[in-house]
Amino acid sequence: MTGFASAADRAAFIASLPKAELHLHIEGSLEPEMMFALAKRNGVTLAFDSVEAIRAAYEFSNLQDFLDIYYQGMAVLLKEQDFYDLTAAYLARAAADSVRHVEIFFDPQGHTERGVAFADVVGGISRALADAEKRGITSRLIMCFLRHLPEADAEATLTQALPHLHLIDGVGLDSSEVGHPPEKFARVFARARGLGLKIVAHAGEEGPPDYVWQALDVLKVDRIDHGNRALEDAALVQRIVTDGLTLTVCPLSNLKLCVVKDLAGHPLRRMLAAGLKATVNSDDPAYFGGYVNANFIAVANALDLTREEIITLARNSFAGSFLDADAQARHLAAIDACIAN
Ligand code: ADE
Ligand code: ZN
Repeated sequence: MTGFASAADRAAFIASLPKAELHLHIEGSLEPEMMFALAKRNGVTLAFDSVEAIRAAYEFSNLQDFLDIYYQGMAVLLKEQDFYDLTAAYLARAAADSVRHVEIFFDPQGHTERGVAFADVVGGISRALADAEKRGITSRLIMCFLRHLPEADAEATLTQALPHLHLIDGVGLDSSEVGHPPEKFARVFARARGLGLKIVAHAGEEGPPDYVWQALDVLKVDRIDHGNRALEDAALVQRIVTDGLTLTVCPLSNLKLCVVKDLAGHPLRRMLAAGLKATVNSDDPAYFGGYVNANFIAVANALDLTREEIITLARNSFAGSFLDADAQARHLAAIDACIAN
């Protein structure tokens, strides 16, 4: 145990530390209990007959296994109020984990292709984010394109988003990575950049280092989601360090999707040691077994992370956020005040 009297001490320190969460798919925060409640409210039939049966199905051997069940789960989300309730529930969990700022992904194509109005999706999520802001949690909203679909569908989604751009801060790229390289979306990301949107992309979760190079050189990302496989290419690591880009790392997701064999083999410490600005995030907490503090605690225990490393991870979360410099400085000062106690 480095720098802590016990694992309980380290967990308490992590729990109290102010932090931002930068990699969270709001649809991935749909807990089985809420899935059941919304199925009932909306008259949707589920493939499972109990909360326990749903949880028992959450055994994945790769990303696609998970995505198949994730897209099934979101079928219960139909109305603006459903998106509000989902987002409010996540924000309550985040607040309990000392999260002060969130940057949330949503997958509009997972809803509009089922006939849900884009305005209801973005409206419900944004209304919950605005309510949370009154209670002190700030946010940014990032619209992801589903990379298994054609670029033309992403273009149509960006066009649908135009009347709502005052609520949307950035665009991202998610879903099945292998076989769907970033360059497939070069045009739509260039258009999004031209609209002043921030750019992020999942890259190097399962896909090769070349996909991370493409995220940098073709999409011109402001941040990399996951990025684990960047470590296979020393020149790529050097490039990310030189550019000062943040990686949004998701330990329990990596474990559940078999990106790593066990958390003791997780590359998080190697990332920090290489000078990469890694952060810790929950990705799809309802499916992967824990929210942000659970991710911090699991990986800190497995790697025996020091107090300094944990503080660096929390600092990176604000420094890598899309908050302005003043807000970042206020949050970093709050970390200083927390650790001085
Ligand atoms: N959509 C939701 N979670 C995802 C992940 N971890 N990777 C790619 N797409 C996703
Ligand atoms: Zn993700």
